[in-house]
Parts: sequence; structure tokens; C-alpha cells
Amino acid sequence: MGSRALFFLAILSFSALSAIAEDSHETSGLAMNYYKDSCPQAEDIIKEQVKLLYKRHKNTAFSWLRNIFHDCFVESCDASLLLDSTRRVLSEKEADRSFGMRNFRYIETIKEAVERECPGVVSCADILVLSARDGIVALGGPYIPLKSGRRDGRKSRANILEQYLPDHNDSMSLVLERFSNIGINTPGVVALLGAHSVGSTHCVKLVHRLYPEVDPQLNPDHVPHMLKKCPDPIPDPKAVQYVRNDRGTPMKLDNNYYRNILDNKGLMLVDHQLATDKRTKPHVKKMAKNQDYFFKEFSRAITILSENNPLTGPKGEIRKQCNLANKLPSLAS
Ligand code: HEM
Ligand SMILES: *[C@@H]1O[C@H](CO)[C@@H](O)[C@H](O)[C@H]1NC(C)=O
Repeated sequence: MGSRALFFLAILSFSALSAIAEDSHETSGLAMNYYKDSCPQAEDIIKEQVKLLYKRHKNTAFSWLRNIFHDCFVESCDASLLLDSTRRVLSEKEADRSFGMRNFRYIETIKEAVERECPGVVSCADILVLSARDGIVALGGPYIPLKSGRRDGRKSRANILEQYLPDHNDSMSLVLERFSNIGINTPGVVALLGAHSVGSTHCVKLVHRLYPEVDPQLNPDHVPHMLKKCPDPIPDPKAVQYVRNDRGTPMKLDNNYYRNILDNKGLMLVDHQLATDKRTKPHVKKMAKNQDYFFKEFSRAITILSENNPLTGPKGEIRKQCNLANKLPSLAS
């Protein structure tokens, strides 16, 4: 009796397991070169546009890289980040957590180039992810093969951004927990924050470390530069005052970031904590010495991020324009 029940239980749990396996396989729905039949030139057009745009506007590469975090980390890679505000709903772009995000019009430029070749086929969510992939290469980072086949969402998630995106001064425990929720482990987090090896941080996010007194954890050699760039305790919101994240190699995605933060030159508190927290410090040290290790972990983590909960199959839509959800056909006609 007992062994028979056990046998049935085994069969039952086996079929349950395979159902789960099949399910997760189906819900992914992404594939390498997903558009190879429907728009064979899609990935080449994106790559070519990224090259052209990067030549003219270098800092747009920072934006492509930051986009993948801000879109994919908040529930789903569905280009919800790119939607404009409507009369009723605030866009993610305009929410506080997106402070400093820019260059969205160049995503639109890429979309237009792709639409000229294959109208209505390639999603904005894929353009966002693939432009990040090619932008990483433009910045001297690794080439990371990424899948496509994501579809576009129809609604902004501005109201829940703060449940996902950490703030510049949040604790490392919170940061690690948020990333582990989508399957990114500690070395993955350390590698992803290496994105702060490029671009810049506006003074509003830094003045609390300078005024009323200078944070003693900051490297005293770095302070005069920061004070010069951020001379006011309350920065004028209209003046564009910022400090470059990595003075040494500001345009290169490289492991200089890790040497900076070990040297107490990390600008944001999260950067600084990465180099001091017991859990992250060993990986910081290893990445500071070994660019290959940084790139390997960075590639793995970007891949996981880019596959976070995409809309596939009948879900979502292919937006015509990346800043607007499609008009629904009116039910009357
Ligand atoms: C704990 C996680 C993170 C926090 C709290 C954070 C926060 C910030 C903040 C406050 C800025 C400065 C914005 C400004 O002043 O203009 C910034 C810039 C940036 N972040 Fe992050 N970030 C995080 C993770 C990431 C990740 C995972 C990536 C990409 C994989 C990323 C990519 C960037 C880039 C490229 C910039 C520079 C943007 C530019 O110069 O236009 N960040 N981040
Ligand atoms: C983090 O900084 C913001 C200002 O950007 C401030 O309002 C908030 O109180 C700070 N949080 C912590 C935990 O220090």
C-alpha cells in the first residue's frame, strides 16, 4: 500500500515538474535573432544606427545602458520606460527615480529606421535591449549575445518604480535583495554597478555627501574636484551641474570603477558601500584586478536582466512609435 502510494506520488510530482519546465520554456518565448524571417535586417539596422548616433552624440551610449536597467528591472522588459505621460498617468521617464535620464529621442531615431524597412514588426522593447547591447560595445565593453522577441506593454509603471529601483543612498542589503528577486546574485550586482564606470551624476544626488560637512568616508583628494563641480549646497535645478562617474576613463566601460571605489572615490553612497560591504568587497577587489572577470559577470547579469519577464506570444503589442501605446481600434466600427 505504502509503496504504491509513493509510486503515484512520484509520478504525480514528476508530471508536475515537467509541466513547470514546459511552462517556463514557453513563457520565455525569446530567441536569438528572433526577427530572422520577419525582418532579417533588423539587428543590422539597429547596430548601424547605434554606431552613427554614437559618433554624433557620445553620451547617448550612457542612456542606452541605463535604459536596460530602468526598463527591465521594473517588472518586465516591455519598454514601459519609453511611454510619455498622458493626461491621467505620469510617465516613468518623469518620475523621480529616472532623474537625469535623457536621449530618448535617439531610440525613436532607431525605431524609425527599423520601421522604414519592416513596419510594425520590431518591438520598442527589443530596440531598447539591442541598443543597450550595441551601446555597451561602443563603450568598449563586451559583446553580449542577447535574445529578442519581446513585445511592448501599454502602461506606465511610474507608480511602482520605487518598489523596484533602489535609491542612490539605499543600503546594500536592500540592493542585494532587490536584484536577487530576479535571479541576479552578489557578483552579478557588483558587475552591473560597474555601469557607473561611465556617465555622470548630477549634484542633487551628491550634495548630501558634501554639505553641511564633507562625508569623512570620501577620499580627501577627490573632494576639491567634487566641490568645484557642485559649488552649491542646493543646486540650481536649471543649471546642469554634475560630476563624471569615472574621471580617469569617463567614456570606457571598464574596471577602473572598482579601483575608484576601493580608493573611496565612489560618488554615490551605493557605489561606496559596494567597496566596503563584507558581501560585495571580495568581488570588487577581484574585478578591480581582473577585467575578464568583470566582463564575464557583467555579461551574465545583463543577460538575466534582459530576459526578465518579457511579454511574448499574444501579450502586449508592437508599438508604432516608442513613446506612445498604439491606438486601440474603436469598437464601434
Ligand atoms: C543600486 C542600483 C543603482 C542605483 C541606485 C543607481 C542610481 C543612479 C543614479 C542616481 C544616477 C545618476 C543620475 C543623474 O544624476 O543624472 C545613475 C547614473 C547611471 N546609471 Fe545607475 N544606478 C543603479 C544601477 C545601475 C545599473 C544596474 C545600470 C546599468 C546596467 C546603471 C547605469 C547607469 C548609467 C550608465 C548612468 C549614467 C547616466 C548618464 O550619464 O546619463 N545603473 N545611476
Ligand atoms: C536619500 O537621499 C534622499 C535625497 O536624494 C533623501 O531624501 C533621503 O532621506 C535619503 N535616504 C537615506 C536613507 O539617507
